[in-house]
Amino acid sequence: MPNKAKVALVTCREFPSLDGYDAVLVPRLRAMGLDVDAAIWDDAGVDWDSYDLVVVRSTWDYASRRDEFLAWARLVPRLANSAKVLEWNTDKHYLKDLEQRGVAVVPTTWLEPSMGLDARGLHTRMPALGDFVLKPAVGAGSVGAGRYSANDSQLRGRAIAYALRLLAGGATVMLQRYLPAVDTVGEVSMVYLDGRYAYAVRKAAMLTGPEQGGERRYQSEQLEGGYTPTAEELALGDAAMAGAMEALGNPLRPFLYARADVVPAADGSPALLELELTEPALFPELAAGGLDMVCRAIAGRLTPV
Ligand SMILES: Nc1ncnc2c1ncn2[C@@H]1O[C@H](COP(=O)(O)OP(=O)(O)O)[C@@H](O)[C@H]1O
Ligand SMILES: [Mg+2]
Repeated sequence: MPNKAKVALVTCREFPSLDGYDAVLVPRLRAMGLDVDAAIWDDAGVDWDSYDLVVVRSTWDYASRRDEFLAWARLVPRLANSAKVLEWNTDKHYLKDLEQRGVAVVPTTWLEPSMGLDARGLHTRMPALGDFVLKPAVGAGSVGAGRYSANDSQLRGRAIAYALRLLAGGATVMLQRYLPAVDTVGEVSMVYLDGRYAYAVRKAAMLTGPEQGGERRYQSEQLEGGYTPTAEELALGDAAMAGAMEALGNPLRPFLYARADVVPAADGSPALLELELTEPALFPELAAGGLDMVCRAIAGRLTPV
């Protein structure tokens, strides 16, 4: 009997047995005849070369150690999604690449460290009315994202101080209007497997206030499975996927996994909040047949193109 194919699902120290949404993949993949390990990306004891496939999954801690994470990814053979994809996708500047290709992204003001902005410069760039969001261009899991109110001088001061702090640390700050429909309609996450739309879930709003000093606000109980995207939402997800493939020079194989997160813009039409190609939670159990779809996509990578 031939040896079983070996698959590593990559995680971080905080979740040695993977995050709950990914842990459910392990028994299912084993039942499909694969040899599966959860492996921590920065564990020096792992022999990445011994795997037929390495899939990035619950690496929640990469944002504060991006360079180290990408250096690791470049050294792993048979990594999905590839190191090149991870490099492009772990910095939200990729949204500019997509916008240039005609994808409707959430309107964003990019505050770059190189602009040398002071408190006054930031003040003039922030909206005069309504709520707005600040988030670092390298960030995940809502860590570092905060919601502020332009009309409240105390919150405005806090926003300016926070932006100054991020810029001083060399981070790009993304400034967006708070899209109020996120509170009512929510955020739609469309999962793509092997480049094709698979299923979708709907997420409630995540940001209730200012940045919380690195605290994660990830609310699994606010997820609704079995959502059917509108034709407009699907078209946007497809355009984001096509734009990403093009920006990356049309790789030979489509992305193993992707999640397009869209929210209603001010005029009600969907806008792309992010196209997650690094470690998106795929919520496989929240969609009928989702677990099978994800496991089949992974197993499908074990046969040559
Ligand atoms: N412009 C915005 N308007 C309303 N909510 C937002 C906006 N930007 C972010 N959020 C909220 O913050 C969460 C995290 O922001 P996101 O851009 O998805 O970054 P992350 O990479 O941390 O997931 C989103 O899921 C959404 O609930
Ligand atoms: Mg998000």
